[in-house]
Amino acid sequence: MVLQADFVGTRPLISFQHVWKKYPNGTEALRDITLTVPEGDFLFLVGPSGAGKSSLIRLLIREEKPTKGKIFVDGQELGRMKRRHLPYYRRKVGLVFQDFKLLPKLTVYENVAFALRVLGEAGSVIKARSTEALQTVGLADKLDKYPRELSGGEQQRVAIARALVHKPKLIVADEPTGNLDPATGWEIMQLFLQINHKAKATVLMATHNRDIVDLLRRRVIAIDGGQVVRDDRASGYHEALAASGLRA
Ligand SMILES: Nc1ncnc2c1ncn2[C@@H]1O[C@H](COP(=O)(O)OP(=O)(O)OP(=O)(O)O)[C@@H](O)[C@H]1O
Ligand SMILES: [Mg+2]
Repeated sequence: MVLQADFVGTRPLISFQHVWKKYPNGTEALRDITLTVPEGDFLFLVGPSGAGKSSLIRLLIREEKPTKGKIFVDGQELGRMKRRHLPYYRRKVGLVFQDFKLLPKLTVYENVAFALRVLGEAGSVIKARSTEALQTVGLADKLDKYPRELSGGEQQRVAIARALVHKPKLIVADEPTGNLDPATGWEIMQLFLQINHKAKATVLMATHNRDIVDLLRRRVIAIDGGQVVRDDRASGYHEALAASGLRA
């Protein structure tokens, strides 16, 4: 199909090479993880509680460093990145968490705009980008609301808009539907699919939501005891896209 070419990158966006993570208390959270993620991929990270999903994500966003092994993102080795380059790196990565992490005293608009304000962007840029991101997530009519005035699904949409505002190449989500009811979780998942498809952002998502994973038939990496135990590249991408109701 015509879309295929857009999803084929020449070098992987993410590459883990024999990565180990042992926490200071002795817990070995990741053992010899090797995986590559091409640009444009949409993949689920699954596994039982304590398997190492969040640890893998914390390494990927450079919140933690590996004990052994190397991680490359967009050609850069994270372990060699200078501290002063971290903010630039983090801008390439949009983060979405289970508990939204919105600032309660800021409006919807300000929660999103804040991410750009701290960079000292021009007012016109802030306005255009924040408005666009909030339109993408379907919240253009709630700009002046505060997080407490929104449903859980709406709060997660704000968090996704905040993640999108830097136009990240990579979106990393740790249990983004964990606090939502199934129908709302499904809507949020549709939004991630749309962002992957339209904005060409690579999406890596840790989830316990088996129903969604089974239904979407995307790549699934299963980890257990800190090791990759399964890496299924689902073949039904276009079928999944059609089934999800998304169109180009
Ligand atoms: N900061 C830490 N210090 C020490 N041990 C940790 C730390 N964070 C996680 N662990 C341990 O590492 C292992 C992997 O934890 P991790 O949070 O990555 O699992 P997970 O797959 O995300 O689980 P869940 O599905 O419950 O979120 C667990 O044994 C956990 O107790
Ligand atoms: Mg976790």
